[in-house]
Amino acid sequence: MELNLKNNKPIIFSGVQPSGVLHLGNYLGALTQWVEMQNQSNCIFCVVDYHAITVKQEPKELSRRILDVVKAYLASGINPEKVVIFQQSDITAHTELAWILNCIARVADLNKMTQFKEKACLPDRQGGSKESVSVGLFDYPVLMAADILLYNTDSVPVGDDQVQHVELTRTLAQRFNREYGQVFKIPEVAVRKQGARIMGLDDPTKKMSKSASSPANYIALTDAPEIAAKKIMRAVTDSSSKIKYDLKKKPAISNLMTIYSLLSGVSVKKLEKDYQGKGYGDFKKDLAETVKSFLAEH
Ligand code: TYM
Repeated sequence: MELNLKNNKPIIFSGVQPSGVLHLGNYLGALTQWVEMQNQSNCIFCVVDYHAITVKQEPKELSRRILDVVKAYLASGINPEKVVIFQQSDITAHTELAWILNCIARVADLNKMTQFKEKACLPDRQGGSKESVSVGLFDYPVLMAADILLYNTDSVPVGDDQVQHVELTRTLAQRFNREYGQVFKIPEVAVRKQGARIMGLDDPTKKMSKSASSPANYIALTDAPEIAAKKIMRAVTDSSSKIKYDLKKKPAISNLMTIYSLLSGVSVKKLEKDYQGKGYGDFKKDLAETVKSFLAEH
């Protein structure tokens, strides 16, 4: 589909890396926002393959994953008649603008990026020390800024982990405009109040992640419903057995309640009431059924 940018609708840009299986975190943090936005906005959704190669990829596997991401977009309810879906490396302007932005970005800006610090220190990544990761991984947020600024984007719907990158995008756009005149529109970030950071099922202190070492960390959108149900039943829980939303004291059950609430449309408050006097077993059984139906429908 071609965008008709002559209308007054806002321009939305976002993307997913084809670097692993898409999971419930991607769906609840980002894709559900995209589905809601596609009716009122000019939406551009990218598969960011240049971002994926900032860590080593097997070429054939990468080609397959690019298609898998597009399939996940469609299965989540993204309508290709209403939005533009494309592969980042098909449009050379992304890397061209990234280079220009590289020349105004500062090493100090990139040194502040928490996601780089986390990824660079992962023991299973390219030797595990900051010095041995690729320059591409360090520079990744500048390419992301180029993706966004290229399309005069108004709003960038993402999960919580990408907020700092959109803030950097704003900083680079403002700096460029100050130095060279008004060129870039300054984009806003769009983050959901609930679901912006879905945590791992095996460890509620770390976010659900495509690159997690164990599949017990996530519910993949491609998981067979029965497998997903088992993962829910085995998910880590907190010490006291009350079904109560409390991110600090009960991060595990709070995460499961967020997932349950978003998939079922039942508020967290109502879940607390409904499960008064019941235990984790009952709660997990019902959540497992909800996740199973969600996966069967999508
Ligand atoms: P990526 O591929 O890691 O994740 C895709 C989207 O899913 C969100 N997300 C989550 N939301 C809630 N809970 C989680 N556990 C969770 N894990 C991931 C991410 O925030 C993201 O919205 N750098 C980006 C891709 C990108 C991009 C862009 C995004 C490249 N250029 C331009 C927006 C605009 C990334 O690695 O997302």
